[in-house]
Parts: sequence; C-alpha cells; structure tokens
Amino acid sequence: MILAEGMLKPGALKGKNILITGGGTGLGKSMGEYFLELGANIVITSRKLDVLLATAEEMMAAKGGKVIPIACDVREIEQVEAMWKEATGQLGQIHVVLNNAAGNFISPTERLSTNAFNTVLDIVLKGTSQVTLTAGKDWIAKKQAGVFLNIVTTYAWTGSGYVVPSAAAKAGVLALTRSLAVEWAKYDIRSNAIAPGPFPTEGAWSRLLPGDLVKKFDPAKKVPVGRVGEHQELANLAAYLVSDYSSYVNGEVMTIDGGEWLKGAGEFNNLDVIPEEMWDMMEASRGKKA
Ligand code: HXC
Ligand code: NAP
Repeated sequence: MILAEGMLKPGALKGKNILITGGGTGLGKSMGEYFLELGANIVITSRKLDVLLATAEEMMAAKGGKVIPIACDVREIEQVEAMWKEATGQLGQIHVVLNNAAGNFISPTERLSTNAFNTVLDIVLKGTSQVTLTAGKDWIAKKQAGVFLNIVTTYAWTGSGYVVPSAAAKAGVLALTRSLAVEWAKYDIRSNAIAPGPFPTEGAWSRLLPGDLVKKFDPAKKVPVGRVGEHQELANLAAYLVSDYSSYVNGEVMTIDGGEWLKGAGEFNNLDVIPEEMWDMMEASRGKKA
C-alpha cells in the first residue's frame, strides 16, 4: 500500500545526525525509523531509559545505522544541557532537532489542579523551548547550520476544550517556531512545524480516548477522507522537512489531518449527514424538473 511506503530516495538523509525528543515510542519512533532507513544517525531521548534502550536495539536490528538512547526529562534544564553535551560529544554535531515529546490528557479544565495544568505546559512549551534554546545557542556559537522541526496539533490555532493546557502549550510552540524561523534564519537555522490530525499511538489513545471513549468517539468519523493517519505518511512529511530538499521552507506549519480541522470549522460541513433523497426532495420542492 502506497500509504506505508517511504517517499524520499535512498540516502536522502545520509550524513545527518538527528535528535528526537520522545523518540522511544509512537510517532517519534516511527519518524526515527524512517530517518534511519534514509541514512541518518539518530539520538532518541525521553524520561524512560529502559524504553529507549529497547527501541534503539529494535531499530538498529531492523534498519542498521546508529541509534543513541539518552535519558532526559525536557522539563529539567540541567538534564537537557547534559543530554545535548552527550549527543554532540558522541556524534560531533547534531544537524536536526525534532521536538516531539509531549504530555496530554483530557479533563474539564475546572477539574485540573495547578500542578496538572503546569505539568503539560512544562513538558510541551517549557520542554520544547529549553531543547530549542540549548541547541540553538550551541549552533550559533559554533557557526553550524541547523533545522528544527516541532510537532504541534491542529488545535494549536483553533484551541480546544478538554485539552486546554495542551492547546495553550502547542500554540506557544507554534509561535516559537514562526518567531525563530525569522530571527535565526541569518544563522542558517530553519524552523518548521507539523500539525498532525489523529494518528493512532498507545500514548495518545490511552490518554485522550480512555476506556469506552474510543468506541463512542471513533476519530476516523471526524475526518473527511474517512480514516486516521498512517505513521509512514507522517514520517514522509517529516523526512522532507528535515532534509535539504526543503531548504526554502521556513516558518511553515504543515497540516496532515485528512481535512479534519477544516471540517469542524466550516459552517455547513456537517450537512454531509443529509441523505440523497432529502436533497432530491428539496430540489423537487423548488420546482426543478427531473
Ligand atoms: C487530570 C491528571 C491526569 C488526568 C495526571 N494528572 N493525569 N489530572 N486528568 N488524566 C495530574 C496529576 O494528578 C498531578 O497533579 C499532575 O497531573 C502530574 O501528574 P504526574 O502523574 O505526577 O505527572 P508525570 O508523571 O510527570 O506524567 C505526565 C503526564 C502523563 C502528562 C501526566 O500523562 C505522561 O507522562 N504523558 C506523556 C505521554 C503523553 O501524554 N502522550 C500523549 C501525547 S498526545 P496533582 O495535583 O495531583 O499533583 C498529544 C496528541 C494531541 O499530545 C492531538 C490528538 C489528535
Ligand atoms: P507518545 O508515544 O506518548 O509520545 C510522547 C513522548 O514524549 C513519549 O515518548 C514520552 O516518553 C515523551 N515524554 C513525555 N514527557 C516527557 C518529558 N518530560 N521529557 C522527555 N520526554 C517526554 O505519543 P505520540 O502520539 O507519539 O505523540 C508524539 C507527538 O505527536 C506529540 O508531540 C503529540 O502532541 C503529537 N501529536 C500526536 C497526535 C496523535 O494522534 N498521535 C496528534 C497530534 C499531535 P517518556 O514517557 O519515556 O518520557
């Protein structure tokens, strides 16, 4: 199936060292696997070293190449700086940072404790900012080019109830992306973002559709193309955006959601529930001849 096929030519990321936060699971892992297949070396980081070690073994066995697992909580600046030192020490230079780590859960906002709200803000906005600042300062000091790719969501610009800390934090990450795309272009540092719609992962599904919610709110039903995303589709877009083929793309957020957020936005988009017979009746009632 073409949806599960790699798109870039073999070797498209050869010579690139790519750091992925949250790279041990879900979409981070899928994007990392494809980068590896295209010839990159990758560093995967997150809090759980056991998960990272297992993923690194699995990836290298499947794709070859080099995968370096480094434990790092992006909320802790000392850990971020130590992780960056370790990664650059092992590989010499990191060319791309993929800010993918996130935390999220659904809840009515008034039920959230201050700590719950801050936990998501800290992982998503503070964590992304800390990794970005650490990498960017080092690239600038060493006069090295760099690429940031930040994973946001489509509700970064619409907002969304029940995931308010995540929406606020992702909006901040989008602003960070666009701001630095302009400010740091003079240092040969590009910044772009991807806004995915629903892509099934254990992490997202267990927190956003817990229990029976997954049956009640089938995410595919909200998507005009009628399905959820395939991980390889996202990996193809990410590989393009971190590659030199996208050198002229800077400050962009690319949506990959089958048209989902626009469906929610358009005033009359929900009229697709109207059956053909009812359209026939309406036509007939205004006197149109068959
Ligand atoms: C309300 C909750 C909660 C929940 C935790 N808290 N879960 N409040 N509803 N479901 C509260 C806790 O009670 C605590 O507050 C505070 O949040 C911190 O909780 P901890 O468990 O101590 O935090 P921590 O161990 O740091 O874990 C962080 C986490 C967790 C965000 C809570 O879910 C996590 O590790 N997530 C990482 C992976 C993830 O979320 N992936 C999904 C990304 S999907 P108190 O006051 O009690 O101390 C995504 C997709 C969006 O972003 C778009 C989809 C289409
Ligand atoms: P996931 O597997 O849960 O990925 C989240 C990753 O972040 C995990 O590997 C987790 O690893 C890491 N992480 C969490 N807190 C961290 C911290 N404090 N420090 C460092 N790493 C941390 O979920 P996913 O669905 O693949 O999500 C990946 C990205 O896609 C996220 O940015 C998410 O917002 C975005 N997204 C997903 C969807 C979707 O439908 N799946 C849609 C839109 C956007 P540890 O637990 O080991 O730390």
